[in-house]
Amino acid sequence: MTTADTTPARGGTTSAESARGETTGGETFDVSTVVQPDRVHGSVYTSPEIFRREMDTIFGTGWVYVAHESEVSEPGDYLTRRIGSNPVVVARGKDGRVRVLLNRCTHRANRLCNAEKGNANSFRCPYHGWTFSNDGSLTAVPMRTGYGQDFTRVRAGLGLGQAPRVDSYGGFVFASLATEGISLAEHLGGATTAIDRLLALSPSGTIDLRSGWMKHHHRANWKMVVENNVDGYHALFTHASVYDAVRPAKVSHVPSKVDVVVRDLGGGHSEIDYSAEYRKLDEEFVWYGRIPRAKLPEYVGALEEAKGPDAAHDALVVGPPHTLIWPNLFLAEMSVMFVEPIATDETIAHTGVVAVPGQDRLNQRTLRRAEGAMGPAGFLIADDGEIGMRNQAGLAARTPEWLVLSRGVESDIEDETGIVNTDKSAETPQRGFYRQWAAVVGQEDQA
Ligand code: FES
Ligand code: FE2
Repeated sequence: MTTADTTPARGGTTSAESARGETTGGETFDVSTVVQPDRVHGSVYTSPEIFRREMDTIFGTGWVYVAHESEVSEPGDYLTRRIGSNPVVVARGKDGRVRVLLNRCTHRANRLCNAEKGNANSFRCPYHGWTFSNDGSLTAVPMRTGYGQDFTRVRAGLGLGQAPRVDSYGGFVFASLATEGISLAEHLGGATTAIDRLLALSPSGTIDLRSGWMKHHHRANWKMVVENNVDGYHALFTHASVYDAVRPAKVSHVPSKVDVVVRDLGGGHSEIDYSAEYRKLDEEFVWYGRIPRAKLPEYVGALEEAKGPDAAHDALVVGPPHTLIWPNLFLAEMSVMFVEPIATDETIAHTGVVAVPGQDRLNQRTLRRAEGAMGPAGFLIADDGEIGMRNQAGLAARTPEWLVLSRGVESDIEDETGIVNTDKSAETPQRGFYRQWAAVVGQEDQA
């Protein structure tokens, strides 16, 4: 592992100066001054300049998760979200198409839609009453004579901005604000297996994310929040109080006692995968508090009918994924989390549950479990939230400059699924995350 911390960056500045955004004005940004294979510079969490670069690159051009199709299932359904710093409205038009509209009136930039969600055919700006269809076109302008003869022609160019590319996989809707780039399929790569694994638990092959979202305002950089989701090292320490209070019904969190891998799937996607351990146990619902199948007869029956007994058994043994989909979506077993970066030290994490259509008994149970772990008084997210905040607080001390991500670097193995490590506590997922980060954020100056 390298330990130098003052490698000269281009332009004669030190790495620390350039990394912290102290050299601006169009100078080249050498991403290796802040991200290296086994360590990351503290400024990636604190520099406003680096945050701006992330908004312009990762969120400004790449594929970003915005919504689930079930949330906008009917024509007119809409919800408001963010893509990086851009407020957007995700809306299904009467033509059935889901669009991602920029939430900004084309007159004088008022935020057009201020509700979290609803159903509407049009949006009327609260400032001067301009009205836009949910396909983005400008349909009405009060007192239009004030614009003179040419107005009809001008109006045609004043529709709402929209994400030029919107696509979905397994009901998860992603958008890109760039007109060109890799396809969603290329972006997701091997991460589709995680979505497939989740959908295998549904008799209809679909899920429903309409149960509502818990929103946690983290006083931490967005990457602190997402990195933690695939950190297999922290559970015994950060969540010690949980393990003191309840004997986990699941499997051991001690890496040497369990057949689990961490996996860098490439493209910034990564996961903690218990499927080998679960298959070895060959026991259903280990991931769901070891509930006996007799307690969920409608669900098990429907799954067997849809898939056959063998595939249903396998799905119930293997359970859902624990997978981070770059950059902002986390499939958290029977929960889903997505994050919205607000500022260098401010992030909103939305957490909701995966409901299986038609399975009320299962869904009620899933909700209660999620409230216990992720709710306002939940035992897991409160711990993780506080750790993120303390991480951010610790970064105020500028020495040492680098955070260490070298755990398990010697034992990473490359196979057909990605880079895997059989030590669950290895920082393989974080190394994969920052490899992608460097590739994407470093792109800006090459464009
Ligand atoms: Fe929207 Fe004027 S800002 S109508
Ligand atoms: Fe945690």
